[in-house]
Amino acid sequence: MKPEAMSREEKKQFDAVEALSEIAQKINTIQEIKPLLDEILVLGLDELAAERGFVLLKSGETGEAFEVETSRNLSENQISDITQISSSVIRNVLSSGEAILLFEAEKDPRYRTAESIVIQKIKSIACIPLSIKNRQIGAIYLDSVSKRSRFTQENLPFLTAFANQAAIAIENARLYQALRNENRRLRGEVQRIHGFDEIIGRSREMEEVFDVMSRLLDTDASVLIEGESGTGKELVARAIHYNGHRKDKPFMALFCGALPGSLLESELFGHKKGSFTGAVTDKRGLFEAADGGTFFLDEIGDLNLDIQTKLLRVLQEGEIRRVGDNKVIKVDVRIISATNKTLTDLVQTGEFREDLYYRLNTIPLLLPALRNRSSDVPLLAHHFLDKFAARSRSEITGFERDTVEALMTHDWPGNVRELENTIERAVVMARGKLISRQDLRLPATGTQEDSFAGSLTLQELTRRAVKQALDAEEGNISAAAKILDVSRRWLHYKIKEWEL
Ligand SMILES: Nc1ncnc2c1ncn2[C@@H]1O[C@H](COP(=O)(O)OP(=O)(O)OP(=O)(O)O)[C@@H](O)[C@H]1O
Ligand SMILES: [Mg+2]
Repeated sequence: MKPEAMSREEKKQFDAVEALSEIAQKINTIQEIKPLLDEILVLGLDELAAERGFVLLKSGETGEAFEVETSRNLSENQISDITQISSSVIRNVLSSGEAILLFEAEKDPRYRTAESIVIQKIKSIACIPLSIKNRQIGAIYLDSVSKRSRFTQENLPFLTAFANQAAIAIENARLYQALRNENRRLRGEVQRIHGFDEIIGRSREMEEVFDVMSRLLDTDASVLIEGESGTGKELVARAIHYNGHRKDKPFMALFCGALPGSLLESELFGHKKGSFTGAVTDKRGLFEAADGGTFFLDEIGDLNLDIQTKLLRVLQEGEIRRVGDNKVIKVDVRIISATNKTLTDLVQTGEFREDLYYRLNTIPLLLPALRNRSSDVPLLAHHFLDKFAARSRSEITGFERDTVEALMTHDWPGNVRELENTIERAVVMARGKLISRQDLRLPATGTQEDSFAGSLTLQELTRRAVKQALDAEEGNISAAAKILDVSRRWLHYKIKEWEL
């Protein structure tokens, strides 16, 4: 039936249903308890044109104890006055589950002597139970110093329906809170089980990674970690070292792309005084420094062939020679290397020694791209949210529902690093207590860029992006690396290569 064709009574009912469904929609999307109670109180005040009010929740399953959770236009003193002296009203409501509406409170024989009604000149009072299946979880209290016609029995059905809706939303929010706590607890537990505290992930893909990791911890086998940029290669390398039997010995990391060949050689193996201009003293190389520990060779694909040959000897013989020195020095290091290139391709093109590849690759560890383990995205997102919210003392407590969806469907070309930066930015940008989809500022993955890319080489496109980011951040490398979602070391390397 169309609204025009209704009788007055039907029209009134129709309006009430509309209003209720609007209210339901509004409060059902609020997952945090405090903002939810605020909203419920505002809606209640509006409905009765009341000036003041509060929402109270029972504090135990049984008994009469309750707590005032949120209030409007009432001081602490007034609240305690009302809850004490009008306690009969509240107690009645909580025990009977029936609403009390007083249009002329001062005339009601049951309450007219109540001090609060007298002292505070309250004329109208409404106290509506929040019930779920005959169980009272609290009440909404509203009052006014004027005689408000809406505080009458006529409005009771609407108020009751509203309060029922509110009670369900409150239960849901509590459930959500409990789930979040449980989630947090479980996360802690899972981390404790595999011992790799900082590496977040429960997907099958990550379970496999943890499984391999835990099996190779106490061996000295070389590990080759492959994975796209930002998948956690360095994180995993460190975890292997710090959980293994070499943990009390040094962990040395070298970004292989950062230095030109000759310097890199002296960095790695050290040099003898006078072996080249600038070699004014004897110098110990990184391999010696890492003796007994772990050496992490990052971006191993960038190593030139000459150094590859020397590295192979270290791996085969367990010994090094400083540049310009004939003396052989024994070293005991475990090698973990990482790359986001496909080394087998480089072997094919002759850029990487096949024998070295097999030496490094005793145990391969492939880190999955984030888009291939999107079930871990909510876990990671909450992990980073906790981290950044705590760091910036922000009050943000969670994500809106469609925010999590957006996070899960995004492609994450920059993998976990991109997700981490996205959350860090969102924590700064967010205005509410929950991070909204807009706060994420996820780039649209469109076809526009694709057609643009068609006219340029990847190299040139990358160079332009780097230049743009550096310009935008006035040459600040950390900031530019953040924008680009790359490591600082990678950026350093590119700046040198392209002489930016
Ligand atoms: N599983 C994970 N759990 C928690 N944090 C992670 C995880 N994986 C990566 N990160 C975080 O993401 C960021 C990037 O990780 P990392 O530097 O290890 O990546 P990478 O694979 O070495 O990247 P690149 O190839 O660009 O050097 C770091 O801040 C790291 O702490
Ligand atoms: Mg890295």
